[in-house]
Formats: sequence, C-alpha cells, structure tokens
Amino acid sequence: MAETLLEVRHLNAFYRNRGRRQQILHDVSFTIHEGEVLGLVGESGCGKTTLSRAILGINREIDGEILHHGGQPRMVFQDPASSLNPAWTVGRLLEEPLRNAGVPKQERLARAIEMLDLVGLDSASYERRPGGLSGGQRQRVGIAAAIIGQPKLVIADEPVSALDVTIQAQILDLFMRLRKELGLSYLFISHDMDVIWQISDTVMVMENGRIVETGPRDDVFRDPQHPYTKKLLDAAL
Ligand SMILES: Nc1ncnc2c1ncn2[C@@H]1O[C@H](COP(=O)(O)OP(=O)(O)O)[C@@H](O)[C@H]1O
Ligand SMILES: [Mg+2]
Repeated sequence: MAETLLEVRHLNAFYRNRGRRQQILHDVSFTIHEGEVLGLVGESGCGKTTLSRAILGINREIDGEILHHGGQPRMVFQDPASSLNPAWTVGRLLEEPLRNAGVPKQERLARAIEMLDLVGLDSASYERRPGGLSGGQRQRVGIAAAIIGQPKLVIADEPVSALDVTIQAQILDLFMRLRKELGLSYLFISHDMDVIWQISDTVMVMENGRIVETGPRDDVFRDPQHPYTKKLLDAAL
C-alpha cells in the first residue's frame, strides 16, 4: 500500500461576507496516496479553489482535519501571469525558494537550469521575464517553480483552463511525464471532464461544496452513481 500523503477529514470551510459567515465546503473527506493523481471536478463556484486554499493553509476559517504526511504541497495556478512576479527573471523566480533555504548560488543555478530542461524550456528562458513568454511557456515556468523544491504533492488548480486546446494537451502531457519521472502526486482541479479523464487515477466530484461521488476514474466515467456526475458527463459529450 502506497504511503498516504494527505488526509482531509470532515473539512468545513467558510467565508465572511459583510459580517455574515457563509459555509462553502461541507464535510469534505478524502486521502491522496503517494504516486496518485486525484482529479477534483465540479462547476465554477462549487468550492474547488476554496479547498486548495484550505489545504495550503491560506484559508484559515475552517474546521475538520488536514493532515500532511508528505511535507507541504506546492501549488500550480490557473494563471501563472498573476502568480509569477513580472519584474523578476525566470531564473530568479525559480531560485527564490532555494535562496530562502540557503542553497548556494552555483547549486541554485544548476537546479534552475535542470528544472527548465525538465519542463521543456531552453536555458535561454533563464534570463527572460514572464511577460515575454507565451501562456504555455509561462505555465511551464509555473510548474518548474512548484517542483524545484521537490514536493511530493502538487496541487494544480485549473492549470490548463486559461490555455488554447493544443497548448492544454502539451501541458497535460508535461504533468503526466513529470508524474512518471519524479513519482509526483497531484490534486488536479478542473471544471473540464475531458481534462479530468486524461489525467486522473481517482475522480472526486464536487457539487455546492460537497463531495457527491468519488471512485476510480473508469468507474466514475463508465458508471456514474450520482445525478450530478451524470449531468457533468452529459454536458461534456
Ligand atoms: N474570498 C472570498 N470571499 C467570499 N466568498 C468567496 C471568496 N472566494 C470565493 N468565494 C465564494 O465561494 C464559493 C466557492 O468559490 P471557489 O472555491 O472559488 O469555487 P471554484 O474554484 O470551484 O470555482 C463561490 O460562491 C465564491 O463566490
Ligand atoms: Mg477555482
């Protein structure tokens, strides 16, 4: 049995709107094992990003348990343009966490170049800034920045949703290759059933902040049990 990396138990999450507390997540429970890709699917506004923020500790208005057994996960965002400092070079962006950890310059540089190669960018990208890159290249940098600290678990929140379909396929291929080469696990979030089908081992369906169905990908897609899952599948056809 593979090691458990993340356990979420009976998680409720809340936002405060003009003094009113609104519950967004309701009794969410699941685990992610080493090497597993868990796909989280649900319509816009159902609470997917709220869940990823709770796991990362950004959203603190929660109750329930979030247990990290494999260290802190790292995040890949939908829009790397908003998560990458536009004033910094790609090299600096990649090296910053290593610098904070006290890794010497030569080693940081070597690691950054290695990461660029790993995500399919040439070493000249090191000197460029995010604004000078295409959307697909920027997302490759976002992925490199997430994995340079060697996390076991990556949370990818709609990482291909802002990209053209052909670029989407390339970035999905990259996620799949990195998973194989590095043994990574993903919590992979998408509103798109096709994307979830391509990447996931296990699928978890969220409706209005509740997990309504979880199972092996093939079971969920071939024999959906919940009406909401059926609705998402019908809409995807
Ligand atoms: N910072 C916030 N303050 C108040 N409500 C929020 C905030 N962020 C998101 N919400 C609300 O929480 C719900 C879930 O949002 P979100 O987790 O972003 O959904 P998803 O990622 O599935 O699209 C939505 O109704 C959204 O409007
Ligand atoms: Mg979201």
